[in-house]
Amino acid sequence: MSITPVICGFGHYAPEKIVSNQDLEKLVDTSDEWITTRTGIKQRHIVVPGEQSSSDLALEASKMALADAGLSPKDLTHILFATLTPDTYCPSAACYLEQKLGVRGLMAMDLNAACSGFLYSLQTARAMVALDPDAVVLVAASEVLSSRVNWTDRSTCVLFGDGSGAAVVTADTGAGKAQVLDLILGSDGNLTDLLLIPAGGSRFPLELGGTVDKESYIQLNGPDVFKHAVREMEAITNTLLEKNGLAVEDIDLFVPHQANVRIIDALAKRVGVPPEKVFVNIDRYGNTSAASVPIALSDALQQNAIQPGMRILITTFGAGFTWGSCILQF
Ligand code: UT7
Repeated sequence: MSITPVICGFGHYAPEKIVSNQDLEKLVDTSDEWITTRTGIKQRHIVVPGEQSSSDLALEASKMALADAGLSPKDLTHILFATLTPDTYCPSAACYLEQKLGVRGLMAMDLNAACSGFLYSLQTARAMVALDPDAVVLVAASEVLSSRVNWTDRSTCVLFGDGSGAAVVTADTGAGKAQVLDLILGSDGNLTDLLLIPAGGSRFPLELGGTVDKESYIQLNGPDVFKHAVREMEAITNTLLEKNGLAVEDIDLFVPHQANVRIIDALAKRVGVPPEKVFVNIDRYGNTSAASVPIALSDALQQNAIQPGMRILITTFGAGFTWGSCILQF
């Protein structure tokens, strides 16, 4: 008998501090007009350095998701933590989150698929539930990208924000909010150098007494990434629809990764989704990488943009490159 995984709770959280485009005008040679027209971003949430780490943000999003599911941390069997900005290189952010949730003994691990991290983790959660129908999997996606942004580089520092989203995944016992109807993923490791943080890993190890330079921060070839993002997101969206015998008209709401409103618009146009069926919140959050999709889902639910009975299509794209697409039936 095949098991249908469901999401039974959603949550999100962003730090209190808001940095507007006008704030960034004081930091680098940029303008609200450039950022708004080129990206759609008006503001982003940023942690106060040293006060909040990725697991702190994930704790708040996870509490909301657990409350939404009517569950407590003690009910969890697994924690999957999607991030490219963990609290520490080692141990995993999942272990910090487990400690902060006041539980122990779970399978807890991080997963790095950059901006596609939530869908990669959701796929892993589906596998956990297929292995064990009693599994209760917390998928937390959380980023403190402000810690890896070069605040003197106008071409990247205006793009990113901090935040977290979470979902609780179980087998379908009738209490689920959304069935995961299908989910497919992809990647291409030939293009790693278009979007990366070069230093700090084994490729360019840290040196004792060495200086921190721009290699330690996010580097992005914007125009090239833009082109690949639109192309791959269109391809995987169409593949998923075709695989499930669905037409784009069968989708009630499209929730894409929030990297750039122009990418979202181009994608929607190519796939044939009308603007009123596309959920956008990049104006308030910026690009929060792995957290972008679960923040958007939880935000859309809070705004009643998602209602019971709706079929939702999600598509992501990130460094690697990685990409994915998913259909949720609410
Ligand atoms: O989340 C993972 C995936 N990430 C993405 O998908 C990001 C994809 N890329 C993008 O979203 C866009 O390429 C960016 C928003 C990053 C850049 O937009 P663009 O339209 O591709 O601009 P560009 O990089 O071609 O730069 C155009 C001009 C340049 O000046 P010149 O050479 O034409 O004189 C830049 O120096 O805009 C300049 N520029 C800025 N000007 C004011 C770059 N950043 C800024 C800035 N403010 N913040």
